[in-house]
Amino acid sequence: MSIPVITLGAEASAYVPGLEQLRGPVTVVRRCAELTELVAACQSGLARAVIIAPGAAELTASLVDRLRFTGVVVVALCDHLPGTGSPGVDGVEYVEATVEPAALAAAVARAVGRFEADPARPQGSLAYADPLGLPDAAAVQPVQVAEEPGTGRIVAVWGPPGAPGRTTVALNLAAELAAAGSSVLLIDADTYGASIGASLGLLDESAGLAQACRIADQGRFDGTVLGRIAVSVAVKGGRLRVLTGITRPDRWPELRPAALGKVLEAGRSLAEVTVIDCGFCLEADEELSFDTLAPRRNGAALRCLEVADTVVAVGAADTIGVPRLVKALAELGDAVPTATPRVVFNKVRAAAVGRAPETQLREAWERFGPTVGISAFLPMDHAAADRALLAGTALLETAPGSPLRLAIADLADVPAAGEARRRRPGGRPRNVKFPGIPARLPR
Ligand SMILES: Nc1ncnc2c1ncn2[C@@H]1O[C@H](COP(=O)(O)OP(=O)(O)OP(=O)(O)O)[C@@H](O)[C@H]1O
Ligand SMILES: [Mg+2]
Repeated sequence: MSIPVITLGAEASAYVPGLEQLRGPVTVVRRCAELTELVAACQSGLARAVIIAPGAAELTASLVDRLRFTGVVVVALCDHLPGTGSPGVDGVEYVEATVEPAALAAAVARAVGRFEADPARPQGSLAYADPLGLPDAAAVQPVQVAEEPGTGRIVAVWGPPGAPGRTTVALNLAAELAAAGSSVLLIDADTYGASIGASLGLLDESAGLAQACRIADQGRFDGTVLGRIAVSVAVKGGRLRVLTGITRPDRWPELRPAALGKVLEAGRSLAEVTVIDCGFCLEADEELSFDTLAPRRNGAALRCLEVADTVVAVGAADTIGVPRLVKALAELGDAVPTATPRVVFNKVRAAAVGRAPETQLREAWERFGPTVGISAFLPMDHAAADRALLAGTALLETAPGSPLRLAIADLADVPAAGEARRRRPGGRPRNVKFPGIPARLPR
């Protein structure tokens, strides 16, 4: 059967007569002048390949990824074939703009054949973070994997609005793991209120994550490139690599899900653990859906949650925080059915929920909460939290013996300094483990 093809741009449509004369293996089903027209046509399932003229569209990993999700491969006509200096975009079949029609048709057939033989290709479904098409819960596909996938783990720290302590937990989990000897990358992917940079006293305005996404969108990206962009921050006994977040909330379109997916995959090669501070909102931006190339504000959080091996869901332990977390977990289940959250209550205090707050919370959760159990209780500890913020560092530096620090070290499953543990009355952190529920993060 002949391969249905769409062309984009005048130079590509100039090939139409030549391709038609071949009478196979390709049939041009539409000529497009605009990229949006091309994307809409691909979405309708019209074609299996597109031929793009030089300069007709900016070829980025995001565009290629989106077209692949519609089952379409990209063949790009170019003035110069990519070489080692400019490696080109992954997944694109490049051919010289002077190619004969027969060779162009062969390149299309080759690209389609390779795509169809690729076991990691998207199959009729979109990742939720992507703007094309409707999500299909039954067929969520993992994001495109790198040629040699790294083995690092990804931990996404997420939770409902109301400042339950996502940043505090993410930063301190990362610091504990780094101090215990793991190589750790900390990423601020909160598109509403990035604050890892400020929490670590970093004055740099470079928005490391946006920079990484920009480079990842333009071509190949790996752990080495990522290592050059990340800022290195010393924490007691270790080092954290940090990708700071966007400097203003209106920069959210810079964190495109496809590019962010590549950054996260590179994170797996760079670090043993990547900890992400995610935005809270998972709502689909329906009002943008008519514009098929528009990025989605919450796409970054969704992509992080889709690829994470562990999702830590942080809720505030009070009468507002608990129902918010219940609702947010239901939304998470709908939006990212593959996520298996670990529930962490933060700011646990008797004043908000009554005497024996952990028991109160556990009982309330068993009655009203989802079936997922509570993995940890982190105490309210103003003194420690404020001291760390003021110093622009992690709790293990400024408040090593504080109840909050010890509880987070326990959640990270790393031994806190012996000296610090001894200082705590009773010597044991307060985290509670339910039978059969792994309370700690796998390392
Ligand atoms: N266990 C705790 N005890 C006392 N204060 C805490 C605790 N956890 C967090 N805080 C403080 O609460 C405030 C909000 O915490 P944080 O910034 O971590 O929340 P967030 O969920 O990331 O909020 P945002 O919505 O702004 O991203 C900060 O001032 C932090 O120092
Ligand atoms: Mg935050």
